[in-house]
Amino acid sequence: MKKVLTAAVLSVAFVASSFANEGEQVFKSKGCTACHKATVDTVGPSLKKIASAYAGKEGDLVAYFKGSHPAIVDPKKAIMMKSQLNKLKSLPEAKLKALADYILSNK
Ligand code: HEC
Repeated sequence: MKKVLTAAVLSVAFVASSFANEGEQVFKSKGCTACHKATVDTVGPSLKKIASAYAGKEGDLVAYFKGSHPAIVDPKKAIMMKSQLNKLKSLPEAKLKALADYILSNK
């Protein structure tokens, strides 16, 4: 029983981390790294800052990617993200979720 449980826990952890990896790929391939670094604010807020603003609110972050949730991190600069969000429009829900997971993993 214990073994089965361990295997289940391990596979959940594996699935969660492979989602985050897929998200990281989206993040890099869409050029997000140009303005977002892991822990320091550059042109855009750090991933750490975004992750703490959206902690426990993955659904809100996915909604933000789709343009149906307002910016909460630095709304005065929200205009800078407009064209960036357009790059995400064609992505399926699963990829947006993976992207959100990746960002949220930077806490
Ligand atoms: C040209 C620079 C630039 C690029 C490229 C960029 N961002 Fe941003 N991003 C910003 C700035 C500036 C802000 C702060 C404005 C804001 O919070 O709305 C921001 C904010 C954000 C936020 C916080 C939104 C909120 O609720 O306030 C998220 C999430 C985000 N970016 C994700 C991304 C993703 C994903 C990509 C790649 C598709 C990306 N960014 C590419 C500049 C950029």
